[in-house]
Amino acid sequence: MKPLDQTSAWQALTQQHNKMAGFHLRDAFAQDTQRFARFSTSACGIMLDYSKNLVTEETMALLIDLAEQEKIESWRDKMFAGDAINSTENRAVLHTALRTKERTPIDIDGADILPGILAVRQQMSVFVEDVRSGQWRGHTGKAITDIVNIGIGGSDLGPLMVVEALKPYQMGGPKCHFVSNVDASHLVETLKSLDPATTLFVIASKTFTTLETLTNAHSARAWLVEKLGSNTAVARHFVAVSTNEKAVQAFGIDPANMFGFWDWVGGRYSLWSAIGLSIALAVGMDGFEDLLDGAAAMDTHFRTEKLSRNLPVLMALIGLWYASFWNYRAYAVLPYDQLLHRLPAFLQQLDMESNGKSVDRDGNKVSVPTGPIVFGEPGTNGQHAFYQLIHQGSTIIPCDFIVPAQSQHPVGEHHIHLLANCLAQSQALALGKTENEVRDDLKKIDIVGSAAKTLIPHKIFTGNRPSNTLLVEKVTPFTLGALIALYEHKVFVQGIIWRINSFDQWGVELGKQLAKTTAHDLTAETITGNHDASTRGLLLAVRSMRQPARHVGAAE
Ligand code: F6P
Repeated sequence: MKPLDQTSAWQALTQQHNKMAGFHLRDAFAQDTQRFARFSTSACGIMLDYSKNLVTEETMALLIDLAEQEKIESWRDKMFAGDAINSTENRAVLHTALRTKERTPIDIDGADILPGILAVRQQMSVFVEDVRSGQWRGHTGKAITDIVNIGIGGSDLGPLMVVEALKPYQMGGPKCHFVSNVDASHLVETLKSLDPATTLFVIASKTFTTLETLTNAHSARAWLVEKLGSNTAVARHFVAVSTNEKAVQAFGIDPANMFGFWDWVGGRYSLWSAIGLSIALAVGMDGFEDLLDGAAAMDTHFRTEKLSRNLPVLMALIGLWYASFWNYRAYAVLPYDQLLHRLPAFLQQLDMESNGKSVDRDGNKVSVPTGPIVFGEPGTNGQHAFYQLIHQGSTIIPCDFIVPAQSQHPVGEHHIHLLANCLAQSQALALGKTENEVRDDLKKIDIVGSAAKTLIPHKIFTGNRPSNTLLVEKVTPFTLGALIALYEHKVFVQGIIWRINSFDQWGVELGKQLAKTTAHDLTAETITGNHDASTRGLLLAVRSMRQPARHVGAAE
């Protein structure tokens, strides 16, 4: 197979990129009154306006050619059918099966996986109803008022992001808290306000071997046992979500209180599985089902819509256009919805852990730039922090603006200001402000001559800074499900085109391994690990700071 950058579709896009050197969004909009109609489309309650991107119809056609060359549809069908497309772990990638309404069997190792999925969903449903109705009682006979989800990465970010986003849908449910960091402050500060008699811990870990989660889970158990004065309390206050029944049992959780899932669900794709238990406890099983339905609707759209009107495909191609051809190495996720405040962090894991790779599926070094840096904050907060660089910095950051037309809390003029700011930002980025416009503005306030000359360069906005806008009527469980699935498939399409495996994460392993030796060397009598001079120096400094009497200058 030819290296990607030597294929005909790639080379055509390289030429297209050169051809577009003089392209400006200001001209594009002036020349084509139909640009918005041409470059916007909707599905599953999400309108995507991609007209403020550095693309022409020719660009889009060439990007679609690239997708076809790299056999997107065939790879997509392989994923949905359960082929082991996660080649380095020899695993299927079937988070889509967790939300499907279809009943066509999906076989893994000769057995249909759908009955197992439905059985766990039923187990979740009974448990959620019991907890929310107060039938599930804690050790002292009290109903549960607070859930603490202990997990990290995919076992934290997805549920946390969704629980935050769906706060207005949480009538009558327990309050959910999330503890992820191994820094004890996270657990201790969370537990401070909680009553052990009414608190339920959900230990969420696919592997049930993750250091952070197990450390937090052990400390949480110690806290509970100490406060309630009995080991038997654990049975009424701890449940687990995992693929590893043995480890769950070894921890001391009854398998009857374990919700299973499977190795074909990747951690960052797992909120649709029992990892979503905290979501279901917060919004109820119906709300969780609506979330799944929204994602399933996006799956159907992704599978059936032609590439040129397919939301995940369009977003993937435009993102790849910037990352690989324009060398824009980051993009910003900017939800104009405070309750989506953890969406950027969730998408950061989804995208960066999936496509932060530089070796292709066959183990060769990739020949093109791949996954970008993802960051973001809700608007309007971000406007007062990092937008300066997005508007006038020396690097271009494509943006995804995400905004609901209707507020969850229609109070006064808040939402009008929020919407206006969102639309104004993408307009400012696209069109900018020319020297003449700046001069005219200054003239109006009597700044002319040398004073104007000094200021003008600082006040020019070059514009031509690209963005997508994703508009939804309102954030509901359904639209949120569709939005998350949209990004999942976007990341998938990009990974396929870059020819990388988006479903493994070997890059997180080395640090974990080294941390084991380092933990030993922080406390052991002597340092035995083979550390570089910097790490050894830091180790010695830490050891000395943890023994204050030995501090330089400390009292002897
Ligand atoms: O950080 C790596 C990682 O494996 C993520 O991919 C995963 O979501 C997270 O750790 C948590 O893993 P687990 O659910 O097995 O505790």
